[in-house]
Amino acid sequence: MALTTSFLDEILAFMPSDAVRLNDLEEFGRDETDDYCFEPDLVLFPGSAEDTARILALCNRYKVPVTCRGGGTGLSGGALPVKGGLVLSTDRLNRILYIDTANLQVTVEPGVITQVLQESVAEFGLYYPPDPSSRGTCTLGGNLAESAGGPHAFKYGTTRDYVLNLQVALMDGSLIWTGANVTKYATGYHLTQLMVGSEGTLGVITQAVLKLIPAPGADLLLSVPFYDLESACRAVSAIQLAGIRPSAVEFMEKEALEMSAKFLGITMPFPAEVVAELLIELDGDSLDQLYPLAERLSGILEQEGAGEIRLADQADTKETLWRLRRQIGHAVRAHSTYKEEDTVVPMSALPSLMLKVKALCRKYGVRSVCYGHAGDGNIHVNLLKEQHPDPYWNQTLPIMIEELFEEVHRLGGTVSGEHGIGWSQKRYMALVMDPVQIQLMKGIKAVFDPLGLLNPGKIWEA
Ligand code: LAC
Ligand code: ZN
Repeated sequence: MALTTSFLDEILAFMPSDAVRLNDLEEFGRDETDDYCFEPDLVLFPGSAEDTARILALCNRYKVPVTCRGGGTGLSGGALPVKGGLVLSTDRLNRILYIDTANLQVTVEPGVITQVLQESVAEFGLYYPPDPSSRGTCTLGGNLAESAGGPHAFKYGTTRDYVLNLQVALMDGSLIWTGANVTKYATGYHLTQLMVGSEGTLGVITQAVLKLIPAPGADLLLSVPFYDLESACRAVSAIQLAGIRPSAVEFMEKEALEMSAKFLGITMPFPAEVVAELLIELDGDSLDQLYPLAERLSGILEQEGAGEIRLADQADTKETLWRLRRQIGHAVRAHSTYKEEDTVVPMSALPSLMLKVKALCRKYGVRSVCYGHAGDGNIHVNLLKEQHPDPYWNQTLPIMIEELFEEVHRLGGTVSGEHGIGWSQKRYMALVMDPVQIQLMKGIKAVFDPLGLLNPGKIWEA
């Protein structure tokens, strides 16, 4: 869309020239979702909440679409400016404003990289658990917008569980706080939680007050091989039934691990008979407390059919195992054109989900690689194009995904556990949502953004 000169003049009147970009905007048209690209017309890098609110008010007045962007690591196209217009980057809103050790809270701007926050609070013996695999490059604003999860969500919850209060710029140019800096809140509608996971469609978060917890003193990892997928999935329930609460229970098919090892140049022999591994982390006060727990856990896992369990308690070994796990997404992307589905089902339905995935793959002759957060019933199903010609892939993929999600729904699950709906998943909303639910959401959207300019084209079909 063409931006008018008067709109640009009003922007340039208060935005410093190095915070305005008019050319070479292609990189702002992409995130990590497939190969979508929607180039914007203008990118702004506001340095304050007040400037952010002013930009939104101008967009509203001139009817310019505006899409907020964090680290650009999204997997559902939430940050893609699909209707053109303006991209509002949070790159310059990247300060950790206040680490409040007395109240175990931290106030941040949205452009802070998640891992930077984690490392900063660790210096005070504090812990911010939500840790998407992209934590080295994703931002807290993006995590809040998508309600991001990660491996440690199993014990500690997702981003949603660590938000106390948000400062939000609205389309009418106002700047509000959504709640209070308290851990209990029963004061009217919970606007804070409404903003979390709203994918940048209701307002732009300009500050967040996040909850912290004391850092655990020690952790160790168990690599647990399995010879069939069902046993690996069933073991997750057995662990919980035994009253053990690991800090992470990650599931990886062997192909996922092999792709990641190849991608990272790590030699890692996997016995031929192994089909999947669980990566289980235990954390607590000290290793002395964790070793007996690991032994009890190993006994349970062996009963469930696990092969030879390896225990990692050294920093470098743990780091390598986590790197292998976190890089699977990038490794799959490097291997082939693919489509990832962020399925989530009640934990006990995991074996049925895996059976369905493999049955679908046999039916359509397409390979899949599955991995994810087994403890949360949240499996990333990656369907691989590999040798298939474009027409077959383009025709078959939507049919497979629809069949997959119908089963996910039947099992009591839904179409996204942590990646969001954004642009790429919106056609599947109707499979799991009642039309009344969608109407209610559209009604909320209309209150915040009556002209439909803020991150337009997302979450549901127009
Ligand atoms: C992960 C991302 C893809 O779990 O969610 O690695
Ligand atoms: Zn994940």
